[in-house]
Amino acid sequence: MYSAVQPSGNLTIGNYTGSIRNWVAFQNDYDCYFAIANMHAITVRQEPAQLRSRTLELAAWYLACGLDADKCALYVQSQVPQHAELTWVLNSLTYVGEMQRMTQFKDKCARHADNINMGLMDYPVLMAADILLYLADYVPVGVDQKQHVEIARDIALRFNNRYSETFRIPEPLILKTGAKIMSLQDPSKKMSKSDENPNACVFLADDRDTVIRKFRRAVTDSDNRVVFSEEKQGISNLLGIYAAFAGVGIEEAEKTFAGVGYGEFKTAVGETVADVLAPIQAEQKRILADKDYLNGILKSGAERAYKAARKTLSKVYRKVGFFQGD
Ligand code: TYM
Repeated sequence: MYSAVQPSGNLTIGNYTGSIRNWVAFQNDYDCYFAIANMHAITVRQEPAQLRSRTLELAAWYLACGLDADKCALYVQSQVPQHAELTWVLNSLTYVGEMQRMTQFKDKCARHADNINMGLMDYPVLMAADILLYLADYVPVGVDQKQHVEIARDIALRFNNRYSETFRIPEPLILKTGAKIMSLQDPSKKMSKSDENPNACVFLADDRDTVIRKFRRAVTDSDNRVVFSEEKQGISNLLGIYAAFAGVGIEEAEKTFAGVGYGEFKTAVGETVADVLAPIQAEQKRILADKDYLNGILKSGAERAYKAARKTLSKVYRKVGFFQGD
């Protein structure tokens, strides 16, 4: 199993319910590699000191959310050079047109019109290299990353067809609740750590009052029924968040709030989220204060990842005909 998060901003509850939370649930059953995707992060401008500190902060969140470094390799992408090396090989099997059609590439071009760089376009190939290096069968992600996992499948198949069976064909693993949390201010848009409006997203680091205040301000509609439906994007999003955090299905969430007014409903969602976040936040702070411990975990994670990655890359180099000496 493989997945990653970019250290490109403060984590939102979407990153938690769409990915990290699910990794924790799977770590007992799979051979897991979970990375901090700092090479992906630089495809949009990052302040170097902040990128470095966010990398450690993200590692501390991984552990605080319940990942166990004995069960999975937790590491920083740039510390395993094979990611960049395999990307180069896969680049020659990937068509420019395919990359131009990627939804996230188009969105990012619109948002960063002054910085449409090669890395932004190559982002899905680097992601394919991440996944394929570890021969992953499953990639737990939120809905927005599904297209990227699908292109990784296409690239893997293409390589296998051209050079003989090498890569496993990965599948995205997307759970029913929490896989697509929308902005609290514009529920037609994904909640994103890079949103300029801080009221649009709830960060994992937000304190209880902030969490509840953001939910109380969430955009809803002029109706008064707490029901899940396509026409009620705001309420449906809040129900989805509640379901993900309370560990119940949408129907049960609807039942809980039948006949309850919007104000009371929004406060209840905020309280439920804040209750889940409180112990994780305390643990993250504690772990982040112990830099030696964190460095040790990332070092052994990188060593484990390196071993696996080196094995795959050497096979790939042999198959494509790269000279490797004796
Ligand atoms: P990133 O950092 O944008 O997001 C990390 C994970 O969080 C999920 N996610 C969401 N889930 C539900 N609702 C939301 N509003 C929401 N926002 C984000 C994302 O789907 C993702 O699972 N390219 C990846 C990082 C990456 C990666 C990989 C993932 C690099 N290499 C290899 C899987 C496999 C990304 O942008 O994540």
